[in-house]
Amino acid sequence: MKKNLTLIESARQLGVSSATILNWEKQGYLNGIRADKGVFFSFSEIVNLQKKIESGLIGRLNSRANKKNSNKTFIPDEHFDHPEDTHKIKLIYEYIIENQLNINESIFCLCLNHLISSGLLLKLPFRELLKLYNKKSNNINVIQELNLWQTHLDFEKKTDLYQQLLDFQLPEISDPIGVIYQSLTSSGEKSKNGSFYTPKQICDEMAGEYLNKIKGNAKILDLCCGSGQFLLAAGERIKKLGRLLKPTCLWGYDIDPVAVQIARINLMILFSDFDFNPNIYQRNFIYNYSLDDHSRKYRKFDLILGNPPWGAEFRHEQLTFLKEYYPEILSMESYSYFIFIGLNLLQEGGYLSYLLPESILNIKTHKDIRAFILKNAEIRKIKNYNRVFSGVFSPVVRIDLEKKNPEKAYLASVENGRQYFISPIRFLRNDQFIFDIHNTEEDVRLLEKIWAFPHITLTGNADWVLGIVTGDNSKFLAKIKKKGYQKILKGVDIQPFRIKTASNFIFYDPSQLQQASPLYKFKAKEKLIYRFISNRLVFAYDTGKHLTLNSANAVIPKLKDYPMKVIACLFNSELYQFIFRQKYFTHKVLRSHLESLPLPVLPQETLKQIEKLHDRIVLSTMDEKLFEIRYNELNQLVYNIFQLNENEIQLVRKRLK
Ligand SMILES: C[S@@+](CC[C@H](N)C(=O)[O-])C[C@H]1O[C@@H](n2cnc3c(N)ncnc32)[C@H](O)[C@@H]1O
Repeated sequence: MKKNLTLIESARQLGVSSATILNWEKQGYLNGIRADKGVFFSFSEIVNLQKKIESGLIGRLNSRANKKNSNKTFIPDEHFDHPEDTHKIKLIYEYIIENQLNINESIFCLCLNHLISSGLLLKLPFRELLKLYNKKSNNINVIQELNLWQTHLDFEKKTDLYQQLLDFQLPEISDPIGVIYQSLTSSGEKSKNGSFYTPKQICDEMAGEYLNKIKGNAKILDLCCGSGQFLLAAGERIKKLGRLLKPTCLWGYDIDPVAVQIARINLMILFSDFDFNPNIYQRNFIYNYSLDDHSRKYRKFDLILGNPPWGAEFRHEQLTFLKEYYPEILSMESYSYFIFIGLNLLQEGGYLSYLLPESILNIKTHKDIRAFILKNAEIRKIKNYNRVFSGVFSPVVRIDLEKKNPEKAYLASVENGRQYFISPIRFLRNDQFIFDIHNTEEDVRLLEKIWAFPHITLTGNADWVLGIVTGDNSKFLAKIKKKGYQKILKGVDIQPFRIKTASNFIFYDPSQLQQASPLYKFKAKEKLIYRFISNRLVFAYDTGKHLTLNSANAVIPKLKDYPMKVIACLFNSELYQFIFRQKYFTHKVLRSHLESLPLPVLPQETLKQIEKLHDRIVLSTMDEKLFEIRYNELNQLVYNIFQLNENEIQLVRKRLK
């Protein structure tokens, strides 16, 4: 039997991405084995986890791993402004589902419907319409398109039912058929190919930004165009601007043949005055780009727009190919290939604007593509949109790049609630090339000043105690103390400097629990307990040997002559809230975050002074006013240690507001 699996093999075995595996490792569900060649996981551990997921034992993981197998379908409401539009889509969606119609055939009929309502086809009985080659039309390309498409379809069994799709009223939105197609595609399929179509408003905004800047005979591309949302947005803009660009300046590709059909029809309808063959083709762009034929290989584009697939699945033989053809991309993340290919297909001075998951900005795994971007382009804009897709929990950012040799002092615009400019060259100064867009230049200077202070860290200097995962709290926790049960704390029980009285009890039997750190660690003489799910640092010093649930973890620092209470004071202080927020902008307090925080090297008397202040603060936790006075005393002390001036202190306070 195989003993160890690589990261990619483990991800494939469990049907999730490599980043998810690393995340599960961080959360303690897996134990990675680090070696020179990367991280490995024991085969038996992976199989065990798989069994637990499949048997439903691990609910939270279950939902993620099974997402790719989910048959669930739903109407993505981010595409509508008016409830009546949702209603029209709902009627069509329910009709197709109830009558168990085939998606391809239904989409064909709905395209006929769309062409008829747009005046490109005559409304004739369905059977007549199917004999398209007999019909006269001004638009030969539309007729050819439908004839070709029809050769792959079979209406025989349910002709009457399909026919009724011609009578439904389509909503007046730019891509009604694309939205219906998205609604009919299962969540599993969408996750596998990363197919979540972009709302029109965002496509319009992205297409609008650079169209004025590119020249008359420009070429515009979406390399994974879906039903053509971005191409429609660019096309509408071109028409509005009265530009001389022809519709054949718009190019699109997609792996999904039905989406390609919809996109082709969409463009034919938008440019109904032209009788043209849209430049939209079916293609697996990652796989075929490098094997491209000669003429296409050298075709370059002026503007590339898109929302490339995130976390798409690759088959085993594709992975071997990807490693060989894209050695720069170590993460095997699908959108990274599209950034790589996009920049390669762009003219010098051309623009690329992509919608991407926020994790590209700061997750270690995506260091590879960040390095590639910084080397090959100037970042023009990063805009934070937060959550925009139904069924996708990742916040979304837009990254705009200009293909050129980056200058030393260029500035990028950031839109993140407010708008400001930053110098992306500074991203090169951190070892993971993190795009820390939340920081202005002022913030960065202050963080660098803090880090310049002589310091030590918890890396290699602490024991970490992960909170208990029961798998089913209602089964394992009790509200009253029973025989053999002991107190257990949740995240909400941890306050700055204070532990609330536990209101939960557990019978600690590690063999029954999904995750349980060894009891002796919980029972350490002293430890620091902190909230795990939190956007701020909340620490309390514990000598009560408390157990914790996974919403609270604990750390046992092992730094000689550096008292734990001092660490509690520093981490709870205003300045450390600023550091944590500006550096990580997260809702989870991870071990890696805490390991990176600087612990200033201080004389013994200062350490003693802080230790005493800790005890005074703890004594004041029940008196709000006194607590505030003592907490302020601590904050001032921490500012003094790092020699912050008044402006810097104001900056910290402004950010924490
Ligand atoms: C997030 S959707 C975006 C679609 C469209 N651009 C939009 O924004 O509405 C990603 C698209 O990438 C396509 N796709 C996935 N893998 C692909 C590949 N290897 N080559 C080309 N297209 C791919 C999917 O079929 C899907 O339509």
